[in-house]
Amino acid sequence: MVHITRKVEFCASHRYYIDDISKEENFRLFGKCSYEHGHGHNYSLEVTVKGKVDPKTGMVINLTELDQILKTKVADVLDHKYINLDVPYFREKVPTTENLVIFIWDAIADSFHDSSLHRVRLTENPYLYAEYYGESCSE
Ligand code: NI
Repeated sequence: MVHITRKVEFCASHRYYIDDISKEENFRLFGKCSYEHGHGHNYSLEVTVKGKVDPKTGMVINLTELDQILKTKVADVLDHKYINLDVPYFREKVPTTENLVIFIWDAIADSFHDSSLHRVRLTENPYLYAEYYGESCSE
């Protein structure tokens, strides 16, 4: 088994806010991330795929195919978007780094056939990233 990781970047904005609680409580919970008009991040996404190296192509997954998956399932959905409003999934969920890795995993996991998705790592800034290995992994 070989693990191969592709890295892509996208920009998006978001706001952390729970409608059921007051503005003050939201500020206590999320700080400046609760401000009304949101703020942006330059996200860096690393997607790790595992599988056997195809003896003919020398690849675990065709990178053109992987890039296409990341473009249609991730970049087209999130890049230059205001996540809270533009992505229906996040109308109900706070668009934290944690929820975003789960969203990205669920969006792409079914796209792999001869290989499989191993890890999704999303870096929000130099001091924060989240990783997800899928629901079946309790790590
Ligand atoms: Ni933020």
